Amino acid sequence: MKRYHVTTFGCQMNEHDSERMKGMLESIGYAEAPDADGADLILFNTCSIREAADSKFLAHLGHAKRRKRERPDVVIGVGGCWAQSVKDEVFRKFPFVDVAFGPGQVHKLAEFLTSDSLSAQGFFEFEGFTGDLPEKRAREFQGWVQISVGCNMACSYCIVPSTRGRDVGRPLETLVADVERMAAEGVSEVTLLGQNVNAYGRDLARRGFPRANFADLLHAIDAIEGIRRIRYTSPHPQDMKEDVIRAHAELPALCEHVHLPLQSGSSAVLKRMRRTYSRERYLDRVALLREHVPDVALTTDIIVGFPGETDDDFEQTLSLCEEVAYDGAFTFVYSPRRHTEAAEFEDQVPHEVKVERMERLVEVIQRNARERAQRFVGRTLEVLVEGPSRTDPTRLRGRSRHNKVVNFTGLAQPGEYVQVEIESATSQTLMGEESLLSRVGA
Ligand code: 5AD
Ligand code: SF4
Repeated sequence: MKRYHVTTFGCQMNEHDSERMKGMLESIGYAEAPDADGADLILFNTCSIREAADSKFLAHLGHAKRRKRERPDVVIGVGGCWAQSVKDEVFRKFPFVDVAFGPGQVHKLAEFLTSDSLSAQGFFEFEGFTGDLPEKRAREFQGWVQISVGCNMACSYCIVPSTRGRDVGRPLETLVADVERMAAEGVSEVTLLGQNVNAYGRDLARRGFPRANFADLLHAIDAIEGIRRIRYTSPHPQDMKEDVIRAHAELPALCEHVHLPLQSGSSAVLKRMRRTYSRERYLDRVALLREHVPDVALTTDIIVGFPGETDDDFEQTLSLCEEVAYDGAFTFVYSPRRHTEAAEFEDQVPHEVKVERMERLVEVIQRNARERAQRFVGRTLEVLVEGPSRTDPTRLRGRSRHNKVVNFTGLAQPGEYVQVEIESATSQTLMGEESLLSRVGA
């Protein structure tokens, strides 16, 4: 039997796509190898959002090249956003690569492997949702659901519109049927994935499918028996409408956590980023969310050092972060991406300034996250157990509905929902003890 190994870089969308690659490979008779050295097929699912992933990827690719020199029959494949952004250049830069494909052509990989084609091939036209391919779940009780691909926004720093194309949604009935099947297989938590999830549905009617928007989708999935938790990532602040916000208060399965990418707290910078909302409009969305769901956990993405960002612009990002007091944030140093508008902007911010701003931002984010997390101390939270704690295998690790990692002592098994009494909290993690009282049902 032939064996494959997949290394994944980047976002949850890529994690999802990798599960589909694995499922598809197993459906054509491949088995997973524990590491690249034992594999006949070495695959990389690449990302172009973060510079760091790029250089890590190059190191892995160098290793694969040496493998291929020892064993020329090993097949090396490169998929994902970075592959899409450079297209056939992959083969010019890395002649040892056998097959390259973009995020919309994962199924082409099977075609390539089952044909007797000897020449290297690249596949870069969008042809189908990876969400329609078989999957291999990392945990049997958690499922990812790709609801759309691509993005119709034109954020000036972002490579996604050029790598993943325009926004195309999967029909509501398909998604409901998918989640019903997952639920029957034991999935109780689903994460809906898309580049701009709350723009979901705009293209459906035009393509001949029944009309539906993101709030309709949330309602339909909440109604599915066995689904106890719904998450989604990422929404766009522009499309964070009242129906979606209300759904957080109304639907029992929809978690009290919203990841709402900010990018910058300065309206001037937001404008140059083409984010289509201002500082005030963003704060207004946050206020509405907190009005309907007072205990909601908010996280965000922020870019520092966008071209032309002044000290004053940056201070506005800091002050917004103090005002919102996020439960957590992903912070990014701006880096130019090929085929993006902002890469051509003249006034790039010097590296030392970016680094200094990043340090200040991280301090504000962590201090607020730590303070926000204290509200959980003394409370009993529902935790979905994921497995042993990463730092102490005698303890368990899981997640609260607020998407906080919880490390605790207890007897539960992965996939179980348990009540945990929270004893302490850092900016990242909650610590506690399983409430045995609730286990007995007292
Ligand atoms: N430079 C830095 N960060 C970026 N992101 C996207 N493009 C860039 C870029 N060119 C960040 C944004 C986005 C997250 C997934 O990655 O914050 O929300
Ligand atoms: Fe990129 Fe903006 Fe679309 Fe997000 S909304 S994928 S940042 S273009």
